[in-house]
Amino acid sequence: MMSILHDIAASMVTAGQGILAADESTGTIKKRFDSIQVECTPANRCDYREMLFRSEAMKDAISGVILFEETLDQTAPDGARLVDLISAAGSIPGIKVDKGAKPLAGHPGETVTEGLDGLRERLALYHDKGARFAKWRAVIAIGDGRPSWNAIKTNAHALARYAALCQEAGIVPIVEPEVTMDGPDASHDIDQCADVSRRVLNTVFRELHDARVDLEGIILKPNMVVPGQQSGQRASVGEIAEKTLACLRAEVPAAVPGIAFLSGGQSDLEATAHLNAMNASADLPWALTFSYGRALQAAALKTWCGKAENRIAAQTAFAHRARMNGLAACGKWSESLEA
Ligand code: 13P
Repeated sequence: MMSILHDIAASMVTAGQGILAADESTGTIKKRFDSIQVECTPANRCDYREMLFRSEAMKDAISGVILFEETLDQTAPDGARLVDLISAAGSIPGIKVDKGAKPLAGHPGETVTEGLDGLRERLALYHDKGARFAKWRAVIAIGDGRPSWNAIKTNAHALARYAALCQEAGIVPIVEPEVTMDGPDASHDIDQCADVSRRVLNTVFRELHDARVDLEGIILKPNMVVPGQQSGQRASVGEIAEKTLACLRAEVPAAVPGIAFLSGGQSDLEATAHLNAMNASADLPWALTFSYGRALQAAALKTWCGKAENRIAAQTAFAHRARMNGLAACGKWSESLEA
């Protein structure tokens, strides 16, 4: 079992490839569709995601796709299961299994991610339907007195219980503790982000150890170390790369095969440039790649606009972003390639 997990995890971070996060919950994809005035119906969600999964870029730049539960059961108009489109492109289907970040009792402004009850049974079902990795996102916000120790500890504990259950089911857990950069209170500077990210990762790895999670069979999905969006501070690509790497080197054991970042509200180009700068550094103990949602899809979504006639142009926009990030995952991207 363990070697299967190691093989899946290694494939998820194949050189020059990364993960497409297409697991927006119904509420989140509605927000994305609202921005292009497209009605959020199951058929439109299916069309949009089918368009992405049939893009040429899937073959060379996308190692895996994170799905929302609904997508696992959807079929394209020609009868193909969406999950089979992913596998046919040589990419691995994965599934978001958490039930979302819910208010943490007694801790105003903080959340704990729920979804552990019945998870063992759900994982068995998802495995039967083709999922070979999973995702659980914990959300840690920085603000007045936040994060509390209890929010860090509770979220880290839930991540570890989730990860152990995934491995038992033959599924590689993506462990995602996101220190958020956006939100109305995100006025923290880059060093506060670095400090909180370190504390969070330290606690997550302690909990993973206690839960007997095999670190060679996980993928870590962290935030980059960046200033809060309301801080008014700008940080250079070099500073972000340096501070993110310092944090990861201090806290992430070398046994972890790969780190796949979230984009978290960075622009498409920022997310690519930051990943590229980190991969230009020598001697990294883990593979560093992307697991972007917004920074991979924003251009394609805008181009698509819900219209069948825009489908090919949208696939081209998606393919471009995926390839740029694939190059960044090797430290071979430069802005001149964007033209
Ligand atoms: P973003 O890249 O848009 O932050 O989404 C990644 C993700 O999967 C968050 O859970």
